[in-house]
Amino acid sequence: MNTLITSSPEEAARILLSDGLVAFPTETVYGLGSRIDSEAAVERIFQAKGRPTDNPLIVHISDKRQIGAVAIEMNQTASKLADAFFPGPLTLVLPKHPDVSEVVTAGLNTIGVRMPDDERAQEFLRLCGQPVAAPSANRSGRPSPTSWEAVRDDLDGRIDCILKGDATRLGLESTVVDVTGPSPLVLRPGSISFEDLRLVHPRTEFHSGDTSATARSPGIRHRHYRPAAEVILVHEPAGEKTANNMGYIGLEAPTDGAYELVHVAENVEHYARELFSFFRKAEKLGIEMIHCQRVSDAGIGKALMDRLERAST
Ligand code: TXA
Ligand code: MG
Repeated sequence: MNTLITSSPEEAARILLSDGLVAFPTETVYGLGSRIDSEAAVERIFQAKGRPTDNPLIVHISDKRQIGAVAIEMNQTASKLADAFFPGPLTLVLPKHPDVSEVVTAGLNTIGVRMPDDERAQEFLRLCGQPVAAPSANRSGRPSPTSWEAVRDDLDGRIDCILKGDATRLGLESTVVDVTGPSPLVLRPGSISFEDLRLVHPRTEFHSGDTSATARSPGIRHRHYRPAAEVILVHEPAGEKTANNMGYIGLEAPTDGAYELVHVAENVEHYARELFSFFRKAEKLGIEMIHCQRVSDAGIGKALMDRLERAST
């Protein structure tokens, strides 16, 4: 298959509407979209990514009025969070509308809904004129793509189109929050912080990783965010060279010569934004081991530590 790379949202939307797979930028990471009303197209997403079919997809909307087409109920908690954070890097898990195919939600009776605030994403979704199913546009088990080039590296020849945009603004995926119960339950930490959520809903809880929470978010079971190199979390950079082909990313600068590849991020937001592209660069350079400096759990730090921990196991 030939993958068309275009800067035209019109062209990309046309391809999606004729049952194609289209990767598109959002403020978090690039997504791989298809129509939700074509099971064949949705199934191709799983094939292109090599994604286990028991891992549900989230749907992307350009207008809050589209929520009613995919979910049957917005309780008070859900409405409050949607009012505060849509559009933005938040995915709400809601009771699924019976018209949405279970291929999208992997058999669950809930559905993840997100309204991106990136301008290109909004324009593209508006032109599609209907909700678009889209996981991150990486091969399964690889870091999410934060640039169109990263999408091409993973999916060239496997999808119909890449809508080109800038590198993504946030670099980590959305926060996934289950709002089917009385208080919000964070299933995946992300760009909207726990503190942000608690300001709007003080009883927001964090999933404890127990089996009931895992059942509520099947994706948690699967291995994610794993680069080719071995990832080791460190409190500070190594003072001297301990092996060949080592890389480092963190806030504190290491001593000269300790590592082959170094990325010192300006602050924790930059660290989050640059992590996945660093992993991919390290891979291209044949780095075999990466030291990642730990950060505190505050704000975006919680999502960053979550991704670092997943990458390191
Ligand atoms: O920022 C993002 O969320 C990006 C951009 C493209 O929007 N998308 C993304 O999709 O990261 P994906 O599929 O890579 O991650 C979505 C996560 C998965 O862990 C999945 O298991 C979970 O959300 N999820 C989807 N639907 C769910 C549902 N109904 N209940 C619980 N978890 C769900
Ligand atoms: Mg993903």
